[in-house]
Amino acid sequence: MAARATSLGDAPIRGLEWVAKTADPARALGSVPTECLKVPADPALAAKVEIGRAAFRTQALLGGQAARAGVNCETCHRNGRTNPDFLFPGISGAPGTADVTSSLFSTHRGNGIDDPKPIPDLSGPKGKLKIDQDPGQKKLEPFIHGLITEEFDGPEPTPAVLAGLAAYVRALSPAACPAKTREPLDVALLMSDARRALKAAQAQTAAGDDPTAVLMVASARSRLGLIDERYAAPALAKPRADLRAASARLATIQADLHDHRPNAAPELAAWLAASPRLEAELAARQSQSLFDPARLAQAAKRRLPG
Ligand code: HEC
Repeated sequence: MAARATSLGDAPIRGLEWVAKTADPARALGSVPTECLKVPADPALAAKVEIGRAAFRTQALLGGQAARAGVNCETCHRNGRTNPDFLFPGISGAPGTADVTSSLFSTHRGNGIDDPKPIPDLSGPKGKLKIDQDPGQKKLEPFIHGLITEEFDGPEPTPAVLAGLAAYVRALSPAACPAKTREPLDVALLMSDARRALKAAQAQTAAGDDPTAVLMVASARSRLGLIDERYAAPALAKPRADLRAASARLATIQADLHDHRPNAAPELAAWLAASPRLEAELAARQSQSLFDPARLAQAAKRRLPG
């Protein structure tokens, strides 16, 4: 365990910890499959999907080893799809597999045997998936609840978060896949994720559900964290400091939401209004960061000799 903790600290970016050595780093860490999400026309259902989309993208949903390693649903189901490059020591067999009854992530479910299964594409045909997604069958919510609280040792999710995750998974569909199969994993994508999560937070605090809003803000901060780790070069100290200040403001908003203080809503609005400037500052320096494919490949080589 000590060795694992050390190696996690050494990796220039955490994603390198769960990418197969055989994978092309520019592909595996520089891009993601496009999302096949059909946002429902009904605004109430669309709002649920946005809650689930944000919850899917933060380790704050989970607990134990997964949360500490920075693993979230989207680590394995990239953009709601699959991840053929995933390889986590003690969890995976072949690349693209994971044992979700593994004792490394779970103190509840460890069955003591290696049982890695291919990570399914959650945006594949519903008929090919194991868990019936028909809302009437009430199979999907208990399955996801078990993943969060038992497999990944997470705290009890709020009812809105659990319903949101199920709504998000149901809204993934092969019919909604864009023509382009992959898109860059970059500042624009992560900032867009963060803003969507914060808009979900605004809706939830307006509806009086501050605990769900707190997780939505955590999701935005998780996405900012994925930018932060790629801006560690000394030359990028200024944009990184501004990014960290923006994340610290979100931490204050989380505390305000937790204490039901009325200033959380205007602060969220102010953060969103200021975010295009932060994004522009980061994007202007992106080519000097580990979002640059050549720099990323170099960092991966240093990390993974041979
Ligand atoms: C460590 C990688 C990993 C993480 C993290 C992960 N999953 Fe999965 N997921 C898998 C694997 C592997 C399976 C297939 C298990 C099987 O076949 O028995 C799976 C199966 C599923 C299924 C069922 C698919 C079907 O065939 O019907 C759903 C739904 C799902 N995951 C959603 C989630 C959600 C929501 C989260 C976050 C709470 C999550 N997963 C986190 C690897 C992961």
